[in-house]
Amino acid sequence: MSIAQNTETIAKLRCIGCGATPDSAGQDFRCAACGDLLEFFFPGWNLDSPASGQHPIASGAPGVPARLNGRDARSSTDPAALKSLWLSRRTSRDALDQSGVWRFRELLPHIPPEHAITLREGNTPLYHLPRCARAAGVENLHAKHQGMNPTASFKDTGMTFAASSAHQQEFRWVACASTGNTSASMAAYAARGNMHSLVLIPDGKISWGKLSQSLDYGALTCQLRTDFDGCVRILNELVRQKPVYLLNSVNPYRIEGQKTAAIELMEQLAWEPPDHIIVPGGNLGNSSAIGKALVEMRELKLISRLPKLSIIQAQGANPFYRSVREFGGKKLEPMTADTQATAIRIGNPASWKKALRVLQATGGEVEQVTEVEIAAAKAEIGADGIGCEPASAVTLAGLKKLRRSGFVKPGESVVLILTGHLLKDPDFTIKFHRGSLFAGMPDEPESAQAKYLQRAPIVLDADLGAVIAALDAAERNS
Ligand code: F0G
Repeated sequence: MSIAQNTETIAKLRCIGCGATPDSAGQDFRCAACGDLLEFFFPGWNLDSPASGQHPIASGAPGVPARLNGRDARSSTDPAALKSLWLSRRTSRDALDQSGVWRFRELLPHIPPEHAITLREGNTPLYHLPRCARAAGVENLHAKHQGMNPTASFKDTGMTFAASSAHQQEFRWVACASTGNTSASMAAYAARGNMHSLVLIPDGKISWGKLSQSLDYGALTCQLRTDFDGCVRILNELVRQKPVYLLNSVNPYRIEGQKTAAIELMEQLAWEPPDHIIVPGGNLGNSSAIGKALVEMRELKLISRLPKLSIIQAQGANPFYRSVREFGGKKLEPMTADTQATAIRIGNPASWKKALRVLQATGGEVEQVTEVEIAAAKAEIGADGIGCEPASAVTLAGLKKLRRSGFVKPGESVVLILTGHLLKDPDFTIKFHRGSLFAGMPDEPESAQAKYLQRAPIVLDADLGAVIAALDAAERNS
């Protein structure tokens, strides 16, 4: 399969291990020489001579959308011209301009617009979190809520781009292994692009919200009696035998699309980077993508310095934390993962080497948090009127630890990346508030600390007096 043949020469594939630059990738998106992951790079970015020649970046006149990747448009590396072009697209009626991913297409490999499948993804809000800031001991805390995407998780930003690549290459079938969000997103984009989708998910270990999405969007959904890592193994075998297009985040198009979350974030911050960005770590595609975008934006002088990007894992699913802390990042020992934050229940993360590079490039930290810390942080984000799914809440729990260790200073600015919507996993939330989330588990004693955050529903007779008594009691306790 030729992956890169239709991309512009300006975007090339490179192996992150041996540095080989193949013209195309195999079905598994691994380097044919050494088996490591591939990434896109942009040799045409002439960073030293901003005004000169063959550059992929279109300046275009403000208000006049440039054609995809600026072909036939004037070329420039001028960061100001890029910023104004991207801003001008916000008032455009063009579907691609309205997407928070395709709006930044000058920094992405070329995919012809007729193949673009978009649900107007991206465009996610940046929220101030005042209560969480107080709880964490920082003054300036924001959350970029990627759960506000069309299928309610950050996966849509990568999926629009990688599904479009599948469409361009005329695949009938796309496939992924997933803890639930990738599959929901893939199923939606496949349906929009008239492709069939095959979902491999661990039986009983994904939330109903996510499973229901994949069913409704029409995927062939297989619940395998294994974990996420087992699903990945089977999928890797499958793509070698069947002409299905792999849409896990080893696919470098996914990473490119997911880069745009960081670009959009910088635009929202008027191109003034925060001191810290904190992301959850599962398969480690998202941290790799955000880090890649930060490094590229600095190279292109869109930002003047790099925020520190820190990655947080659940203690029961912490292979990357252990790799960095115990082995100095020299190796990663796969593990059997377990956490109630099922989205990040991953023991053998594919993109760990890419994520390690991001930590090193930005000077970020890696942390792990307990199940109770995750549940408490989730309720705190909820109490700020925002909410998120459990895996996203590791960011706030991790921030608290990074404050305690002194890595984050009280006066520094912090952005949490919230990856999924509160309604993705209502079971977790209801169990937490009813006090049954940790019943009979080793975490039960520790969970007493989070009791003050629980708001169990109250069952009453249909009686006005009973409701008034409940209201008065709540007022006294507030
Ligand atoms: N948060 C949520 C809500 C997720 O769904 C995932 C990953 C992550 C964080 C971790 O991101 O893998 O890029 O490090 N979910 C994948 C899935 C694995 O199949 O939906 P990562």
